[in-house]
Amino acid sequence: MSSEIQLSLFGNSNDNQKDLIPTDSKIPIPPGTYGNIAELAQHCNQCHRCELGNTRTHAVVGRGNLKALIMIVGEAPGQNEDETGLPFVGKSGQLLEKILASVNLSTEEDVYIANINKCRPPNNRVPTPDEMAACKPYLLEQIRLVDPKIILLTGATAVKGITGDKRGITKIRGQWLEWEGRLCMPIFHPSYLLRNPSKEKGAPKWLMWQDIQAVRAKFDEIRNNN
Ligand code: URA
Repeated sequence: MSSEIQLSLFGNSNDNQKDLIPTDSKIPIPPGTYGNIAELAQHCNQCHRCELGNTRTHAVVGRGNLKALIMIVGEAPGQNEDETGLPFVGKSGQLLEKILASVNLSTEEDVYIANINKCRPPNNRVPTPDEMAACKPYLLEQIRLVDPKIILLTGATAVKGITGDKRGITKIRGQWLEWEGRLCMPIFHPSYLLRNPSKEKGAPKWLMWQDIQAVRAKFDEIRNNN
């Protein structure tokens, strides 16, 4: 009998595999690996599936209601998020809160917020396709555990990271699409709105107002049918 097999007799082999997961992106993280978000967060904070693990202060896993009907997916943490370990707490996050509040959605009750990548890319650059792929199983597990009916994808990176669709965000924002049995809507990233402050009809902020009202209407429809 090989020593590996002998060793595996001393414990649950599944636990051994779980301990190995964060160190190498080639080790799969199958659906059902995590029983809850706390377990997943523990792995994310030890994770070295990509280089971003070398420079993080905190892995940024998620915040909000773990049973929310709506999940919001961003790109990756910035400096404020890296420091606090919480997603969307900087300027973009403050704007996101205002957008949600404009249709009476609260981050504590109605939404759960996560990112494509859990660790901050240096100088806030866009995560590379390899970094996105290395982190994706964590997000898929978050989606499985939270089980949202609606997923809002903020910006092109979130759309690409979840659905693989490489179209520009201005082309697809505001359209409902189905992904793995869930309703998704691509919306502008709040940082794009910070750079484009006009509220004129047809401007990005005005379009976001249309989109978030459509999200609120769908939220009410789903809630009333359950
Ligand atoms: N931008 C993101 O995409 N995510 C965050 O958590 C913060 C800023």
